[in-house]
Amino acid sequence: MEMTVGVKLWLGLFIGGLPRLGWLLWWWNELWYVAPLQARCSATGTNLPPGHMGFPLLGEMLTFLWYFKILRRPNEFINSKRRKYGDGVGMYRTHLFGSPSIIACFPSINKFIFQSDDKFILKWPQVDLTGPASLVAVHGKSHARLRSYILNAINRPDALRRIDLHVQPRMVAARAPIVGAEGLQNTKGLESDCVDSIYLHTNPENFEDPMCFNPDRWNEPARPGTYQVFGGGSRICAGNMLARIELALFLHHLSVGYKWELLNPDVEMVYLPHPIPPLFHIQYRLR
Ligand code: HEM
Repeated sequence: MEMTVGVKLWLGLFIGGLPRLGWLLWWWNELWYVAPLQARCSATGTNLPPGHMGFPLLGEMLTFLWYFKILRRPNEFINSKRRKYGDGVGMYRTHLFGSPSIIACFPSINKFIFQSDDKFILKWPQVDLTGPASLVAVHGKSHARLRSYILNAINRPDALRRIDLHVQPRMVAARAPIVGAEGLQNTKGLESDCVDSIYLHTNPENFEDPMCFNPDRWNEPARPGTYQVFGGGSRICAGNMLARIELALFLHHLSVGYKWELLNPDVEMVYLPHPIPPLFHIQYRLR
């Protein structure tokens, strides 16, 4: 059946227009977000971090999921940017989870951001559960005042000693004959909840052989800015000493009280939403 001239024309327009449409979609976020900002910044000579913001709405989510979900090499997401755009200022612009974003991957930059809370104001997406007067929702003087009460109650040596007197006997009493690895997975999951936190702590430039289990590495203090498990600056985790002590006690009882058995030696990590091994991989039996 012969195509009419009209159909041929439409088909030609459609096929010819596809590359243009692709081009427009690829640059849409750059035109929408970056161009106006760049116009404003040009007056002061400020540059935006290098990078690309991907497609409308999707941003760079497909590339992100490719590295995190399919390849399971999350650091390559940032390494690919370093290769493409150079190390420059240690920051890249992108568009993730529906928002234009900047990824900061160098310790010094992260430290600067944590310490400049007047410029980078922390805002939790939801404070319905914690309430508008909770520590994470308040700022400035109210934050400092509330924080000092909390630190006195849970983060000072005398408070920690008191808490320990309550917690340790309960930990011993709660010992179960067999324990799966899930409890451990959950605590591990708390550690890294953002792209650059994983990158910072598993980057061989910051820690020697970072994926090797080597508790001795902590005999020396970490290089400045490289250990940010608990955040930093005025918002550094208010329970960081309590968390360290609880984890140390928990690991102590798990080590001396249980026999450990590796169930799935070849288990691979999943990295979304948190880095965890997907299966039970260690079983603990009471000694
Ligand atoms: C391994 C366990 C823990 C980890 C990895 C952790 C990590 C963090 C991180 C990354 C922040 C955000 C810091 C920032 O916004 O810059 C934070 C804030 C906070 N954490 Fe933790 N945390 C842990 C355990 C705890 C515990 C046990 C408590 C209390 C009992 C606690 C109380 C808080 C509070 C109140 C804040 C808000 C501080 C503020 O906004 O001033 N955390 N934590």
